Amino acid sequence: MRLDVVTIFPEYLEPLNVSLVGKARARGQLDVRIHDLREWTHDKHHTVDDTPYGGGPGMVMKPDPWGEALDTVLASGEGEPVLVVPTPSGVPFTQQLAVELSAKPWLVFTPARYEGIDRRVIEEYGDRLDVREVSIGDYVLAGGEAPVLVMVEAIARLLPGVLGNAASHQDDSFAPGAMADLLEGPVYTKPPEWRGRTIPDVLLSGHHGKIARWRRDEAFRRTDANRPDLIERADPAAFDKKDRDI
Ligand code: ADE
Repeated sequence: MRLDVVTIFPEYLEPLNVSLVGKARARGQLDVRIHDLREWTHDKHHTVDDTPYGGGPGMVMKPDPWGEALDTVLASGEGEPVLVVPTPSGVPFTQQLAVELSAKPWLVFTPARYEGIDRRVIEEYGDRLDVREVSIGDYVLAGGEAPVLVMVEAIARLLPGVLGNAASHQDDSFAPGAMADLLEGPVYTKPPEWRGRTIPDVLLSGHHGKIARWRRDEAFRRTDANRPDLIERADPAAFDKKDRDI
């Protein structure tokens, strides 16, 4: 998969060199290219923003550098990428969207600073490409770079061969499957006793059926406590009689 990021803070994307994404790059599974938007400015101060038409606070990112930057990036590859525009006004970034984007061969991210990018840029590329305006949550950050890090990590770990153990994202919270509507429950590892705290006996029982039932019950309890909205909006058929007894 190829990923391009156009930003005025290339150094903000340096975490893409470490851990899971860094290793995927080193193995050639991910081709990540970071571009400095200011390379496509032509004035002495490398200006990327200006005051908003109609007045109001803050600054708006100018269309000219974005247009030149995106034309250059688009011309440098085969086919058409999906353009991912991080903005608090976008559609929610969900596991489902991460799965959908992980199947695309090429994504271009356009993290903005200030009050966002001149609307005409989104319209211009929306006429030619699949453009997704995406929010990572109901809060406002100073820019879209942190959202890009979040989205790239969520997408990259879904690529074949990127996670050591392919099964490890199958029972993630929000992953499609038997526990699709539930958050993941608690986990334990050695030692069997730590500061006088033991682990639930069932996990030592070797009884796979009982362990599965316990995991589901814990997932249900945690979801009910932390995200009751997930249970309310789920298909009632997703829950069995034993779930409802909790
Ligand atoms: N830019 C600023 N806040 C954001 C958010 N919550 N999601 C995506 N991009 C953003």
